[in-house]
Amino acid sequence: MKQPVELSHACRLINHGPTVLVGSAHQGRRNVMAAAWSMPVEFVPPRVAVVIDKRTYTRELVRASGSFTISIPCRATLDATYTVGSVSGRDDAQDGGPDKFERYGIEHFDGPVLGLPLVAGCVAWLECRLIDEPHAEEAYDTCFGEVVSAQADTRVFAGGRWSFRDDNAELHTLHHLGGGNFAWPAKSVQGKVLPAR
Ligand SMILES: Cc1cc2nc3c(=O)[nH]c(=O)nc-3n(C[C@H](O)[C@H](O)[C@H](O)COP(=O)(O)O)c2cc1C
Repeated sequence: MKQPVELSHACRLINHGPTVLVGSAHQGRRNVMAAAWSMPVEFVPPRVAVVIDKRTYTRELVRASGSFTISIPCRATLDATYTVGSVSGRDDAQDGGPDKFERYGIEHFDGPVLGLPLVAGCVAWLECRLIDEPHAEEAYDTCFGEVVSAQADTRVFAGGRWSFRDDNAELHTLHHLGGGNFAWPAKSVQGKVLPAR
């Protein structure tokens, strides 16, 4: 079901503001966290922005490696999403214990271009090279990335667009309402341009 997405369509994967999982890895260490605040900023080349708090372990690994991934979770991976957004991987790393993937049984696979961890069971996946914007990172915790690979589950994203339907409800993306409450899109509808008067 997983198929490459044309890079010119990559920004559509997060255009609707889903909660995402930010994956990172550096020198044998790896991690994953939830992020509700991400958005596309450029279609071509495809560029995205994600707010990654400077206190997170993710931010440390992203800065060190100059790269990160975005996996887009769905209803089926809701609890894993909330979990990796509720605990820090730094504690595990300091204790020499298992990372979040192992501790919570979160299956993952390597991205095709950068080899960074992407979360299995999600519905779309991006790999990004960090764009060097130290001021935005320091002042606003906003990390910009250029998308270098994009993939999606064709059961819910095909022909360059999402299709949320009753028959793929478990694959609908998540929108964080706050405090661990999530909503998902009910269906996709095509807008029409109003005729000019
Ligand atoms: C649904 C959800 C959305 C979140 N969104 C963001 C976000 O946009 N930016 C951010 O810095 N932290 C966000 N967080 C908090 C981080 O995921 C959390 O601090 C996490 O424990 C960091 O993990 P780490 O220290 O292992 O990197 C969110 C948490 C949840 C549960």
